[in-house]
Amino acid sequence: MDPIVSLLSSLLENVRPLDAGEPAQYIPELASADPERFAMAAVGPRGVVRSVGEDNVEFTIQSVSKPFVLALALAMHGRDHVLARVGVEPSGEPFNAISLEPNTGRPANPLVNAGAIATTGLIPGSDRHERTATIVAGLSRFAGRALTVDEAVYESESETGDRNRALAHLMRSYGVLHENVDEVVESYFRQCSVLVTVRDIAVMAGTLAFAGRNPLTGEQVVPESVARDVVSIMTSCGMYDFSGEWLMRVGLPSKSGVAGGLVSVAPSQFGVGVFSPRLDSHGNSVRGSILVERLSREFGMHVF
Ligand code: DON
Repeated sequence: MDPIVSLLSSLLENVRPLDAGEPAQYIPELASADPERFAMAAVGPRGVVRSVGEDNVEFTIQSVSKPFVLALALAMHGRDHVLARVGVEPSGEPFNAISLEPNTGRPANPLVNAGAIATTGLIPGSDRHERTATIVAGLSRFAGRALTVDEAVYESESETGDRNRALAHLMRSYGVLHENVDEVVESYFRQCSVLVTVRDIAVMAGTLAFAGRNPLTGEQVVPESVARDVVSIMTSCGMYDFSGEWLMRVGLPSKSGVAGGLVSVAPSQFGVGVFSPRLDSHGNSVRGSILVERLSREFGMHVF
């Protein structure tokens, strides 16, 4: 067996029994996910993807989409335009908190829900279908294959998405969100419902790790400056109200999603993806977090 695969495999098996928490309950389709699923993948600069566990199981990308849609928005509009709509300060609050600046209504950062919805609004499209198509095509370029939407999860998100709609209406009342609320929010729900495997999200993280160039396809998906901006924001905001402790313990820019996916970026070294559906109180994968912490320690990947 490839020595790196056997190392990843023993890490995975050591962490397997350490599960706790439960899958996200607020979206019925996620609550019924098989909680035992467990997988990890890593990609290096030459595009070799190494994976262990249930590496071909698809799950919805959820908030792991946020940094990549941010990258698309930055590449299309530039930093100043994006910063006018969304801040880059850690909120220290849960992912679904109101997190809007007091007077302006500008969301704290693009990785909490409010900021992510504002970012989705920056992706052009005359309606939800056009905007969604642009987003899915962009996420597919990061993954290096054509991704699709899980319609059942999308329906479930939309049926239970009143809090996100409320956030969008609030931002529109402040003039931060210029677009039609329903169109933007439905695109955001579809963005969250894109299906991926751990191998896909490792390649997506790898594209950020290797300065915007997809290590699998060789495509420059976004400019290097955009990848750097996104990785910087992931460092301070990617794990919500656990971002500070995560940075200290793990030292890798990361982003989690409520379906149990988690990506980490080791700049110029690796893109890492993990998947395990049971979540902690911050909405981060329990075993995924332990796995990445151990991986970072074993491989000396802490960026500081
Ligand atoms: O906005 C939501 O509620 C979800 N569809 C995405 C949130 C998410 O993944 C939070 N991450 N841990």
